[in-house]
Amino acid sequence: MRLTIPSFAKINWTLEILGKRPDGYHELRTLLQTIDLADRLSYTRLERDIEIVCDNPDVPIDETNIAYRAAVSLRDFSGLKCGVRLTIEKRIPVAGGLGGGSSNAAVTLIALQKLWNVQLRLIDLFRLGSKLGSDVPFFISGGTCLGVGRGNEVYPLADLAADFLLLVNPGIKVETAGAYANLPPELTNHAPVDKMPFSLEASQAGLLSGSGRSEPIWNRMHNDLELPVLARYPLLGEIKERLKQAGARGILMSGSGSTIFAIFESEQGRHSALENLSETGWWCAPSRTLSRKECQEAYRSNGMEG
Ligand code: C5P
Repeated sequence: MRLTIPSFAKINWTLEILGKRPDGYHELRTLLQTIDLADRLSYTRLERDIEIVCDNPDVPIDETNIAYRAAVSLRDFSGLKCGVRLTIEKRIPVAGGLGGGSSNAAVTLIALQKLWNVQLRLIDLFRLGSKLGSDVPFFISGGTCLGVGRGNEVYPLADLAADFLLLVNPGIKVETAGAYANLPPELTNHAPVDKMPFSLEASQAGLLSGSGRSEPIWNRMHNDLELPVLARYPLLGEIKERLKQAGARGILMSGSGSTIFAIFESEQGRHSALENLSETGWWCAPSRTLSRKECQEAYRSNGMEG
């Protein structure tokens, strides 16, 4: 039996650092969003071994791979003795702030339940995911979610929608831990504080094509990690400037970077921006938001063979 499932990327509409926690992590309030950019993951059942094959040499294929760790954690939790060969077709930039590794881990937990014929309670699935990485629980849900705690405690919200996104990545790899370590002290030298619920306001912002009265999401986009990462990689600031000149409405670094995402108001606007950037050699990908329903349906309709 072979299962093939898309493993979607995410962007962060907002990301606020509320302080440093006793466990060394940062207390977050973030508004997460699945988008249609996806890796393709295929699973074939093996007797015992867990094997990873990937078309991108930047992705580890040993036991340090987060999807590998997801398979081990599910196997240990359920007491099974099964194996799997996971083939990853990587389309999401590695170490690019788009959650590719976390998404691969979440999809692996979902796919292997089917492949190994085991059904976890949702609470156990979220717990296993949360141990693997802060963003993993979000990908189990998908759509638009508020993430608090380490970002791992997720609450589904009404879907926000943007049809004309453009993602730009110049090939810079940002180590997440390093991005958090370079935060200005005023954001981290205190225990978590209850700031204005900025992300909650953002979650109420209007759907781009929706009710005219509410505020567009681009007025609410903000990422506390952006300033220190841009200071380290000035090229990212240049990308933001180029996108601004090209007419983008909202422009923000996703997660800990380095991918910059921009919202355009029309296909035409995005197309001319793409043409404008074509000579830069940067990785550029048109994208759109994916609702929770679309995400869940894609997880379910999994091209099962055999
Ligand atoms: O949870 P995850 O493995 O994705 O986190 C990677 C690193 O990012 C952590 O080891 C930590 O240094 C940093 N991090 C943090 N606060 C968070 C999430 C991640 O400091 N809320």
